[in-house]
Amino acid sequence: MSKPDKKIINELDKLKETIENHNRLYYNEDAPSISDAEYDKLYDRLLEIEKQFPELITPDSPSQRVGAAPSKKFEPAKHRIPMLSLQKVTTYEEFLAFDKRARDGLELGEDKVTYVVEPKLDGLAVELIYREGLFVEGSTRGDGSTGENITSNLKTIRNIPLKLSKEISKKYPLLEVRGEVIMKRSAFKRLNDSLLERDLPLLANPRNGAAGSLRQLDPKVTSSRPLLFFAYGISDPGLASLINQYDSIQLLKKEGFLTNKLIKIVVGPAKVENRFLEIDHARHDLDYDIDGMVIKVNDFNQQVELGQISRAPRWAVAWKFKAEQVETILEDIEFSVGRTGVVTPVAKLQPVFVGGATVSNATLHNQDELAKLDLFIGDTVVIQRAGDVIPDVVSVVIEKRPPDAKKIKFPNHCPSCNMPIIRPEGEAAYRCQNLACPAQLEGRLFHFASKGGFDIDGLGEKFARQLIKEELVKDPADLFYLTVEQLLPLELMADKRAQNLVDAINRSKQTELPRAIFALGIIGVGESAGKLLASNFCSFSKLENATE
Ligand code: IVH
Repeated sequence: MSKPDKKIINELDKLKETIENHNRLYYNEDAPSISDAEYDKLYDRLLEIEKQFPELITPDSPSQRVGAAPSKKFEPAKHRIPMLSLQKVTTYEEFLAFDKRARDGLELGEDKVTYVVEPKLDGLAVELIYREGLFVEGSTRGDGSTGENITSNLKTIRNIPLKLSKEISKKYPLLEVRGEVIMKRSAFKRLNDSLLERDLPLLANPRNGAAGSLRQLDPKVTSSRPLLFFAYGISDPGLASLINQYDSIQLLKKEGFLTNKLIKIVVGPAKVENRFLEIDHARHDLDYDIDGMVIKVNDFNQQVELGQISRAPRWAVAWKFKAEQVETILEDIEFSVGRTGVVTPVAKLQPVFVGGATVSNATLHNQDELAKLDLFIGDTVVIQRAGDVIPDVVSVVIEKRPPDAKKIKFPNHCPSCNMPIIRPEGEAAYRCQNLACPAQLEGRLFHFASKGGFDIDGLGEKFARQLIKEELVKDPADLFYLTVEQLLPLELMADKRAQNLVDAINRSKQTELPRAIFALGIIGVGESAGKLLASNFCSFSKLENATE
């Protein structure tokens, strides 16, 4: 075997640097300076050299972003310094009260506090640990003290630097960078379009997209997801010579991290309000979701002086945006039946743009809500959309009710199976009691196969519906007896897909007890109750025989 000469070593070093630089231009600056083909050429050359001289592969090589083996579960990762949460305010008065507490705490009298005002990114908080300038570990926030080690997944995010400058490595041999992993709205839309095409479960919103992609056990899946990391701070305000939040953001930016362009220094509460309103107004034009502004005392000494109460710092606050409201016309009402038989009225709306998306459905929750709103079909309604996808109907504009508006009647039969529906004592919901109701079965099947349950890849809503319609499945357990031959006649079911689904079903048989309990869809038993029951009873038979 030949030894690499100086020339090769230099070429490789140069390639690593060039590729990471292009990553930065592409992901952080939105300003690629070479074509995809040229980029691929550089990358291929890097792989070629590394293949020839594997001893030259270093952890900061771009090739090391992918290729880690799937793991069985994530290991816990303790945060050296806890990742705190934020107190929240929603009005200027509440913010003023926060500002006063800060001024009192710092004994500033009438002097104004210097704040850094930042967008509150709607993604998943993570911590990245750099030792001697190398990215060595990354984790989720978890409960604030301990999160999950998701290093391999974070490495696949191309805009996370694998290596920092020499200068910084020397000055800060341990640097813990904190920030948010997000999925851009445009990328989220493209991803959902492609999931829809393959009949895979859709992601509810970009936040779930980011969280779901990061919590994949196979880094290859994460690698295929369009994620971005925004750095918003460092863990330790005591780090030598870093004296404030704003400078630490500038330092992170210089080290190649993506930082938010809208971060600004603002002095005093009135200017904070101006800035808040300005961004509130402009936020729908951003390509990522933000749900408020985070306002931080800039000076690190002041931060330390203010300290924290319980799990939130006294030096920062989240000022959340109000949900945006618009008017539209209620065109119809549909009654949908969920997996537990609950009948939910859904408003069918004239499509309208609100909260950054066009919506045509809104939830009306239950009959009480419907009665309280006193809705007629044809009414003009006020709807609002906060963060999540399904908006709410807030009120009716009575003056705009047309003469031919139609009163809405809550059904007394299930819209799916036509059996009488009843409202159990003390509940707000009407339920269909028929366990064989197709709509319920569909929901149960979908829940059974969902991520938190048996996690059967490829069993989307569309297939669930078909399986029930064709009477191949009358109970979720029937899934385990399906054969490729039975699946083939279904719409959109090619050989490979049928085989994949059967394989996925077979794989899912090796599940864990908490998931199996969750999958049953017992009313009130979600993922955490599933875990609790599993750790207390240890087996299905013990659980079955449990007394009240
Ligand atoms: S600072 C003590 N800055 O908000 C400081 N957090 O409740 C806490 N978040 O889940 C974090 N954008 O992920 C900070 N610019 C920003 C943020 C931000 C979003 C999230 C964070 C955490 C939550 C804190």
